[in-house]
Amino acid sequence: MAPLRTGAAPAGVRIEAPDPESAPVPRHVAIIMDGNGRWAQARHLPRVAGHRAGAQAVRRTIEAAIASGVGWLTLYAFSSENWARPEDEISDLTGLLRHYLRHEVAELHRERVRLRAIGDRARFGADIARELADAEALTAGNTRLHLTMALSYGGRSEIVAAARAVAQAAASGTLAPSDLTEDAFSGFLFTAGMPDPDLVIRTSGERRVSNFLLWQAAYAEYLFPEVLWPDFNAAHFDSALADYARRNRRYGARPE
Ligand code: FPP
Repeated sequence: MAPLRTGAAPAGVRIEAPDPESAPVPRHVAIIMDGNGRWAQARHLPRVAGHRAGAQAVRRTIEAAIASGVGWLTLYAFSSENWARPEDEISDLTGLLRHYLRHEVAELHRERVRLRAIGDRARFGADIARELADAEALTAGNTRLHLTMALSYGGRSEIVAAARAVAQAAASGTLAPSDLTEDAFSGFLFTAGMPDPDLVIRTSGERRVSNFLLWQAAYAEYLFPEVLWPDFNAAHFDSALADYARRNRRYGARPE
């Protein structure tokens, strides 16, 4: 971790507010967007209103990530467990996703954002799977922000699918078991080639991991702000980055 600039502070006094000029910016931020339902309920609105407001927060967050120089942003938009929700809510969420893909991808491309999806996209049906593939192909050359949407995503099933692929590679003789390192295993996950998340944020005050990036977030810093996802804005994002900059990441090693 880059040292925080200490300015005129006396030796040994810890500066609480990191200097934005020198504070470490997480390379990869991943977000569990929680609280849409409670946001709507508090306003006596249908749940879909919370999800629509949540989609606005997605736009704000992408802008905030670009502005702060975060290179990778992963958003948990639909978990593999979300299929257990009532049919009308699933239909609202898939409708929002379809709308997002049809109306926002051109703007993402203009902003030089690369869009990718991880998860079991086929469960959304052929039209959404095709729109996702088209969006990925269109934006494949962009590098300003790598935006990943976790859709019908579950960390355990991702790891099982990777283990199955490893077993097949071993059985066919293309991978020697002794060559299976952590890095090699990572290459079998949906996130192959992506950096691990440095910071995972879950909004709404809930403190659960909910099957999100189980392998990848092994050494991530976690943050659980109280704000409900539809209210999340650039100030919340910046405050999360400032909190991250104050953390002392040791990766299990002893502090100096
Ligand atoms: C969790 O809130 C949120 C979701 C299950 C869906 C997230 C979806 C969006 C942010 C909008 C759609 C996004 C795109 C990209 C089109 P919850 O419903 O579990 O809230 P609750 O815990 O308060 O009930």
